[in-house]
Amino acid sequence: MKSISVNEFKERRIRLMEQMEEGSIAIIPSAQEIIRNNDVHFGFRQNSDFQYLTGFDEPDALAVLMPGREQAEYVLFVRDKDKEREIWDGYRAGPDGAVSEYGADDAFPIDDIDDILPGLMEGKTRVYAHMGVDSGFDHQLMTWLNQIRSKVRQGAVPPDDFSDIAHLLHDMRLKKSKQEIAIMADAAKLSAAAHMRAMRSCKPGMWEYQLQAEIEHECMMGGSPRPAYTAIVGGGRNACVLHYVENNQKLNDGDLVLIDAGAELQYYASDITRTFPVNGKFSTEQRAIYDLVLKSQYAAIDAVKPGATWIEPHNVVVRILTEGLVELGLLKGDVKKLIEEEAFKEFFMHKTGHWLGMDVHDVGDYKVGGEWRVLEPGMVLTIEPGIYISPDNQDVEEKWRGIGVRIEDDVVVTKDGCNVLSEAVIKDPQDIEALMQGGQQGLF
Ligand code: GLY
Ligand code: MN
Ligand code: MN
Repeated sequence: MKSISVNEFKERRIRLMEQMEEGSIAIIPSAQEIIRNNDVHFGFRQNSDFQYLTGFDEPDALAVLMPGREQAEYVLFVRDKDKEREIWDGYRAGPDGAVSEYGADDAFPIDDIDDILPGLMEGKTRVYAHMGVDSGFDHQLMTWLNQIRSKVRQGAVPPDDFSDIAHLLHDMRLKKSKQEIAIMADAAKLSAAAHMRAMRSCKPGMWEYQLQAEIEHECMMGGSPRPAYTAIVGGGRNACVLHYVENNQKLNDGDLVLIDAGAELQYYASDITRTFPVNGKFSTEQRAIYDLVLKSQYAAIDAVKPGATWIEPHNVVVRILTEGLVELGLLKGDVKKLIEEEAFKEFFMHKTGHWLGMDVHDVGDYKVGGEWRVLEPGMVLTIEPGIYISPDNQDVEEKWRGIGVRIEDDVVVTKDGCNVLSEAVIKDPQDIEALMQGGQQGLF
């Protein structure tokens, strides 16, 4: 399995340090284990920013970067080796491993941090850190600062400028390297295989969680440690609940099912949605809505290229969906006016996509200087238009009510356009019907 090289982690730290002010310090904590109940923890997942800079996936750690410092620019605080704890909880790299395996210039036990960190902060002009994200960490940072302030009469110089590190770090994370794109392509490929498996195995009478199990089985068998987010498997009207995660209803003959699911691989997310008929055959109304969403999705993907702005694919979707909804009689009036009034929001209430990376809704600004961001090679985003017709919508004919369709792919901006990382999962309706009906004939 591909992974990010030790060298790439080092290059990231160097690039961050190049952007930091001279004589400054960056302090980045790891994620912590969270207790679920008694002796059980939630599955540990490293904080994405910490992982991005260190590749160190243990809890109770903290990274310090001090550009230009002679003895050590990169210091890690980590859990100390502990024979007893390692028998129960598993291997720890310890300070020696943090240096030899993870490239730290120096490393200390995390238990010694209160004695060492104020000394590292002392005399620095500026502190870069996350601010207002984790109140425990905010408090800790101020405690270290006050430790220095309490010694000003002995000549200690506390830092007096603070910057949110998110600004520098998240701009770096937004533009993916070759190694990152290769891993994201693998994550999308694995998730695509999982969606295909769900399509092949779907039959009326199954339960939503059984399709979730098909998806998660395929992803885990392919080396994914966990989903990138909780899968949405919504049959029938449940497809109209955007963040439906109960996944506990029966899949009925004649309904559609919407599956929004993606694997995480090597700390990178994929995010794919497909909507298909439970019985393998679209009804007339389902097909009309599906065709419209698909048309808008193809057009939006065509609009993803360097130089285009973030909002252009969304504008393309809004125009096509509004025109189509008028043609189908679901919206009435002049298309231009309906777009101005945002009448489409009754059926399409989210944006066309989001950045994708280590987090499913990845970091990175959508606007720069008040203007929509210009797309650049290496940026990865989703394109996910949808139409959701509420089962309670009395303004439309009954035959349309409860239909929900979303089609979502993962797209990387290239030098001259884009690549669809998730293209291995079919989406043309004839292909879906052929696969599902062929699959079912094969079973009986
Ligand atoms: N699965 C969350 C999203 O599509 O944004
Ligand atoms: Mn999704
Ligand atoms: Mn998405």
